[in-house]
Amino acid sequence: MIELKNVTRRFGDTVAVDGIDLAIETGEVCVLVGSSGCGKSTTLRMINRLLPHSSGEIRVDGKDITTLNPERLRLNMGYVIQGTGLFPHWTVARNIALVPRLLKWPQARVDARVRELMTLLDLDPDTYANKYPAQLSGGQAQRVGVARALAADPNILLMDEPFGALDAITRENLQLEMLRIQRQVRKTTVFVTHDIDEALKLATRIAVMDQGRIVQHDTPENILRHPASEFVENLVGKQDRGLKLMSLRPVRELMTAHARPRPATPGADALGEDDSLREALSVMLCRNLTQLPVCNGRGEETGVIARERIIRDGV
Ligand SMILES: Nc1ncnc2c1ncn2[C@@H]1O[C@H](COP(=O)(O)OP(=O)(O)OP(=O)(O)O)[C@@H](O)[C@H]1O
Ligand SMILES: [Mg+2]
Repeated sequence: MIELKNVTRRFGDTVAVDGIDLAIETGEVCVLVGSSGCGKSTTLRMINRLLPHSSGEIRVDGKDITTLNPERLRLNMGYVIQGTGLFPHWTVARNIALVPRLLKWPQARVDARVRELMTLLDLDPDTYANKYPAQLSGGQAQRVGVARALAADPNILLMDEPFGALDAITRENLQLEMLRIQRQVRKTTVFVTHDIDEALKLATRIAVMDQGRIVQHDTPENILRHPASEFVENLVGKQDRGLKLMSLRPVRELMTAHARPRPATPGADALGEDDSLREALSVMLCRNLTQLPVCNGRGEETGVIARERIIRDGV
């Protein structure tokens, strides 16, 4: 869906992006990760033509973007920037409605869409629709930014460190929300971060950038198992690669399933099937347990997970 071929961007003598090739498939979440100044934001802004590329070719849906009208191109790409970029003198509802109104949707449809998105992002419309950005917490404002980007149902989402300025807990909640929304609406997404854990959690594939180049483009698992260079190895963290691999795999993969679900034991510690092996191991280490029951989304016990099994087969 998005294809960059030998794309370069210079600012005077600075080569911000240096001949990168990148292909992003429909429905994929591609995460660009790398240290400050390596060219992540520049890459994103070239895709929606906020910045022209100096050379090379960018195709969206097979079409060279320089042949497309930039405004039309952008209407099909939700864009979330760090610090939200909300209009301070507009209400939450009006901010979210920005693109639908540009597209001249009838008012009733705009209102319905705003309510739908606020609900999807866990912002009660009756409480927040008429508030102004300054009346929101950082996490709430970021949610409004994400709702605005999704408003006109674009095929592509570009997100530049959308959760960068948030505390760890809010950040984790928004990451989980993003995974949930991604399961529901499945947008082709290019997501920029310098946080490797965020990249591992959200990406279908990660593009590691260094000094304007892509040094590795692969799945989270392959990046962890086979880092292409010492730079990538240091980025993913040499020491805790084992735990990071465990965080990619859900408990369901290594649990011993019961023949049929049983009622859960009241008050007992239990894990969810989608919790990671890392969480499972952590709970067992803290409680000094050798195994734990596993429950499905309806709260029925569907099996058990054993500590030894995680240690033997978890990585
Ligand atoms: N408008 C500009 N004019 C001149 N140089 C620029 C401009 N925008 C970016 N650069 C330079 O291009 C390089 C890449 O910048 P970019 O913003 O893409 O980095 P980044 O990977 O997004 O970094 P960060 O993680 O800090 O946001 C940097 O050296 C930067 O100084
Ligand atoms: Mg940036």
